[in-house]
Amino acid sequence: MPDEITLRTPTQDEFPRFVAPLSVAFNEEISDAAVENDRHTIELDRFVGAFDGDQVVGCGGAYSFRLTVPGGEVGAAGVTAIGVLPSHRRRGILRQMMTWLFDQARERHEPIAILWASEAAIYQRFGYGPGTVSSAFEIARDKIQFRRPVEVPGRFRLVDVDEATERFPAVYEEVRRSTPGTVNRTDARWRWEVLHDAPWYREGAGPKLRALYEVDGEIRGYVIYRTKGDWDTSGPKGVVLVQELTASDPEAEQALWVWVSGIDLIASVRARRAPLPHPLQLLLTEPRRLGLTVTDGSWIRIIDLAGALEARSYASSGELVLEVADAFCPANDGRWRLSAASGRARVRPAPDAEPDLTLDTSDVAAVYLGAFRFADLRRAGRVRECRAGAIAEADALFRTEVAPLTSTMF
Ligand SMILES: CC(C)(COP(=O)(O)OP(=O)(O)OC[C@H]1O[C@@H](n2cnc3c(N)ncnc32)[C@H](O)[C@@H]1OP(=O)(O)O)[C@@H](O)C(=O)NCCC(=O)NCCS
Repeated sequence: MPDEITLRTPTQDEFPRFVAPLSVAFNEEISDAAVENDRHTIELDRFVGAFDGDQVVGCGGAYSFRLTVPGGEVGAAGVTAIGVLPSHRRRGILRQMMTWLFDQARERHEPIAILWASEAAIYQRFGYGPGTVSSAFEIARDKIQFRRPVEVPGRFRLVDVDEATERFPAVYEEVRRSTPGTVNRTDARWRWEVLHDAPWYREGAGPKLRALYEVDGEIRGYVIYRTKGDWDTSGPKGVVLVQELTASDPEAEQALWVWVSGIDLIASVRARRAPLPHPLQLLLTEPRRLGLTVTDGSWIRIIDLAGALEARSYASSGELVLEVADAFCPANDGRWRLSAASGRARVRPAPDAEPDLTLDTSDVAAVYLGAFRFADLRRAGRVRECRAGAIAEADALFRTEVAPLTSTMF
């Protein structure tokens, strides 16, 4: 069984062969151009192929991210490109690759792994929990009515990839510093992923466009989008597909939404991976017209429990003993005393202490960035309160100011 399978990293030349299982696993053809493009961002020493003899039957990798957490940031393994051939499924190959990826994350002192899940069930078994939630909407353009006129003192400019690569990151960085769940972006990620107009992602829409918003010559925000033109006998009914809209202040964010909703020959505006709550919920006269939906966002896995808990900040002072169950990373399994003062915490093993709360690592992941509260876990039967009042105390400690969001797809 898994012992017939060997894992190793690819050389530069071997990379296309190593990712070949992904086309089959995802039921789609991944073009040579897409594989070549991945070379700009992939970290070969963090990529692994699973071999049955000399056939690559599975693959997976990780990016070296900085992940914003409440009050700071940590190194995080951004797990990506996971696939196993249908001929080799359910034999523990993913389990073997996940072990490899987590071992490497530990060596690199990354206490957290983060990913976008094709199916959450796969990763919950490995201790991932819902780290962020995302919203999505599609609203008919004629239903976008702002409660009050939004002032737009600046101007918009469509820019090429070079100018966007130079100017957009400053805005993103400002937002990243204060938003748990966001990850840093290298120049290569900006140029070859975020801004790159990959034809294989167009899905019938037009080219990727990049607009920046400036006030007095200073960039205050940007939007990356495509438009999908369409007509019927009643006239134009195109869609604006917003990939990302980021602003350094609320006024600029409002101006950007006004601009997006004013694009000509458009019948609706669609956005994905957006925050929750969404500012349009409070900006529009009829927010229900957004048809806002909520889905899971990124999933996080706490690999080093004490390291992760010590890396974030706390909103109050106090002490809690957590009894954490972790079958896949047994070093986390057991009782831990979290002592918080002046915004930071020390976390130490406390094998003999009476627990205040018992829960699973995936539950810690759900509250870690602020997506959920301990009270939410309790309603779902996912935490046990062993001392009365401990859930309220835990929520007071873990309370965060900014709703977490992962806006980078990887
Ligand atoms: C998901 C995938 C990589 C799993 O690979 P695998 O080698 O079959 O997984 P393993 O045999 O190591 O399974 C590990 C555990 O996850 C479970 N699991 C695997 N795939 C699952 C799925 N799709 N749904 C629910 N559970 C799943 C297994 O049952 C097993 O649990 P167990 O240890 O309790 O028995 C493979 O099915 C695949 O390539 N799927 C299509 C592509 C995809 O979705 N990739 C993920 C991208 S984010």
